Amino acid sequence: MDKNILAQLEKITGKDGVLSTPEDLAVYSYDGTFAEHRPDAVVLPRTTGQVSQIVRLAARERIPVVTRGMGSGLAAASVPFQGGIALTMTRMNRILEIDEANAAAHVEAGVVTADLQAAVEKLGLFYPPDPASIRHSTIGGNIACNAGGPRCLKYGVTGDYVLGLTVVLADGRILHTGGKCIKDVVGYDLKALFTGSEGTLGVITEALLRLTARPEFARTALVEFPSVEDASQTVNTILRAGVVPAALELMDETAIACIEAAMHLGLPLDVEAILLIETDGSDEAAVLREMEAVAEICRARGARQVKVAADETERASLWRARRSLSPSLARKAPNKLGEDITVPRSAIAETVRRLKAISAKRGLPIVIYGHAGDGNLHPTLLFDKRDPGQWAKVEQMAAEEFALALELGGTLSGEHGVGTLKRPYMAQALGPVSIEIQKRIKAALDPLNILNPGKVFPD
Ligand code: LAC
Ligand code: ZN
Repeated sequence: MDKNILAQLEKITGKDGVLSTPEDLAVYSYDGTFAEHRPDAVVLPRTTGQVSQIVRLAARERIPVVTRGMGSGLAAASVPFQGGIALTMTRMNRILEIDEANAAAHVEAGVVTADLQAAVEKLGLFYPPDPASIRHSTIGGNIACNAGGPRCLKYGVTGDYVLGLTVVLADGRILHTGGKCIKDVVGYDLKALFTGSEGTLGVITEALLRLTARPEFARTALVEFPSVEDASQTVNTILRAGVVPAALELMDETAIACIEAAMHLGLPLDVEAILLIETDGSDEAAVLREMEAVAEICRARGARQVKVAADETERASLWRARRSLSPSLARKAPNKLGEDITVPRSAIAETVRRLKAISAKRGLPIVIYGHAGDGNLHPTLLFDKRDPGQWAKVEQMAAEEFALALELGGTLSGEHGVGTLKRPYMAQALGPVSIEIQKRIKAALDPLNILNPGKVFPD
């Protein structure tokens, strides 16, 4: 990047807020996918005011601004394919206020989600969204992708907890939207517009988040199913029985083997699937009753064993293992492509069956795991990108997975977003009217196309 621009950026953030050595640029060229491209500079602001000045400068100089948190995204949304500034929010990591009376937290975008959770739980409050990357991903990134996680089945996704946002617009102006009121219908819901916009409409610098009461009790069971078909059928039976588990996760045999190899938890290696099911709440008897009801259904539907975690340590290690699943699949093959297709709950079993069929037909493994309870599955292709034959298959199989989800009334992405990886399928998923409206919103908010250019929309 031009020395003069670097100097102007340093003037805004201080010298330590701008990185431009090749080593630094390399570090900020990835996310959680196999995609990679170097930015021209990494800029680490400390305040909304600094972000505003940076974006103003970028607009004047027509420099792309690609905002990122910890870079754990799974759709290449924060990879700066056109170079420019990797606007890295990790130094804006202060919890500004936890308002107990209004059950709200005001945080900077770079706060790590698990840190916020720990802080509010000390006060008997709860911030439910729990993406697998919870220990390193940031609230800003979670909002920009409208992240999900296991607990979304009962508690909803990140966007359901956004009360308000501070956003730096493409011209550098600062927008405050929303507030501490639970009800607010004045004007368009702009916070919902920026939630899930993947850095293409503005830079989220602060958020006001809704909290709830912390559930005091939880039970977690590991349920072994000799047949993956039975496991996926059972998901729907549980949901229809009127029980709403906090989480209902499915893992197939390859997923189980990968976790076991990484964590040695004594998971069964002779079953086709396990369900990881949690019930929670503040009435212990009710939590136990719900778990008993779930266990009974599982046994009736072919479960070999229902093992309830004996204590908090065991429960925590099960969830740690579940969260490590996506990275641990990297042991199996040089590359992986994990999707997050989502289908209506009535179609979960059929989706699993047909994903297996795609894998059998094309001769490349698809690991199946994910948030089965809300129909959000992570079919993950394992391959070697250096082999052009395999890569061609991967592209074909990904297209088949997306077509399957759409055919069954589902969607391309339940939580990872579009980034660049799902762009080719956007038109098919949304249709021309929706695409045109969305492009007009983008053009209205970012007429120079400097905010995360080339993402989300098909060309
Ligand atoms: C998970 C990530 C991949 O659920 O979304 O593990
Ligand atoms: Zn997930």
